[in-house]
Amino acid sequence: MFPVPFQGHITPMLQLAGALHARGGVEITVFHAAFNAPDPARRPPGYRFVAVGEEGSPSDDLVPSGSDADFPGALLRISDHLREPFRERLREELAGVGDDEEEEEATPACLVVDSNLRGVQMVAEELGVPTIVLRTGGAACLVAYMAFPALCDKGLLPPASQDKAQLDMLLDELPPLRLRDMLFSPTTPHANMTRCLQNIVDAARSSSGVILNTFQDLENSDIQKISDGLGIPLYTVGPLHKISSGTESSLLEQDQTCLNWLDTQEADSVLYVSLGSLASMDEKEMLETAWGLANSQRPFLWVIRHNMVKSSHQVSLPEGFEEATNGRGMVVPWAPQKEVLGHRAIGGFWTHNGWNSTLESICEGVPMLCRPQFADQMINMRYVQEVWNIGFELEGELERGKIEVAITKLLCSEEARQMRQRAKDLRDKAVKCIEEEGSSKSAVDLLLKRIMSF
Ligand code: UDX
Repeated sequence: MFPVPFQGHITPMLQLAGALHARGGVEITVFHAAFNAPDPARRPPGYRFVAVGEEGSPSDDLVPSGSDADFPGALLRISDHLREPFRERLREELAGVGDDEEEEEATPACLVVDSNLRGVQMVAEELGVPTIVLRTGGAACLVAYMAFPALCDKGLLPPASQDKAQLDMLLDELPPLRLRDMLFSPTTPHANMTRCLQNIVDAARSSSGVILNTFQDLENSDIQKISDGLGIPLYTVGPLHKISSGTESSLLEQDQTCLNWLDTQEADSVLYVSLGSLASMDEKEMLETAWGLANSQRPFLWVIRHNMVKSSHQVSLPEGFEEATNGRGMVVPWAPQKEVLGHRAIGGFWTHNGWNSTLESICEGVPMLCRPQFADQMINMRYVQEVWNIGFELEGELERGKIEVAITKLLCSEEARQMRQRAKDLRDKAVKCIEEEGSSKSAVDLLLKRIMSF
């Protein structure tokens, strides 16, 4: 397996490894970039980990952050950066270099590769190793990416202007998406976007199958569109975090004490706030968020990652914040998110709508306050708000008064109570998909058969 070296990609890849390993019969080798490598102390037992490329801190252009980041550019550079070193490592593997005696007979059946690593996939193709692609995002997102060239041909992309009315235009071919949802970020160069999405679709088309971390009852029609559009086997195996237990892949240490604090809170009362592993805010947004939380008078659990505030090495809370919240809130550098979302005290999730966070929230029946920043996050938000109706967007500039109103709506309104109910209905459907005869469990078995057949 070869994941993209970001939390939101490593996690589902290792969960997939766990799901395959648990069904039996496969040996797992995880190739990983030497930077952002899974912590040796937290690696699941039973797999081999092989570092690719140079150790040490990656250059800034490999690790994007914030809404103005060139995320597609970074993904293209990462794929290029890993390509040659991977050729060397894979050649060694195929020649049996570095194997101990017991492993000598094992030849790689196939490479499961993140769909963003087209360069890595091409190396495997050249060396005769079949590939299966893992899409870590939702099905709707892949449908949108497949439609990207047609939107360019129609002259809709890149947008002729940054005019709000134009960006808000609904796309007939991709309801409920708007033109603005197709832009990774307002500053992403169109050429990078085009190449990056082309690589994803090329990777899928050249593979022996595509694995999707979603479930049938959530994205049935988009899954069908992918199947029709690609014409290769699809394995819809999600939600992976519910299929694969015990694979701890967090790159950062999770503060478990927040679970004890949650135990002391009332059911459905706490707002959980987290922007995932890459999204960020500036100092002013941080200040407005802090006072919005404080003024809402609701309990909150807020993840402030060490690098969450742009251009600030030391994140500090505003003066008077602690007194104003008076034990009503807890701030942690990184949380055990899945357990947090599954805690009975959580009433809502302020999220950036990374796909993993979105799926984890759905699987615990938690409604969302959506604040997407880049990549697939706007697409995910549109589905949360317009299709599943289990959350709403916090639009425009972050401002404390607006935040306070949104938090109260999420935790206390009748509308949000209905959203929570719909989210719980989706959670129940997810549970059905991962039962023994469920669609996702069956897809894992089919995938395993396919791998064994190579
Ligand atoms: C990135 C992209 O931003 C996202 O849009 C894409 O869908 C996947 O890759 P990221 O931004 O990190 O991912 O978001 P997300 O997909 O939500 O993944 C974050 C992961 O970190 C989740 O599995 C979440 O459970 C975990 N997490 C987050 C923690 O374990 N603790 C935390 O405190 C916060």
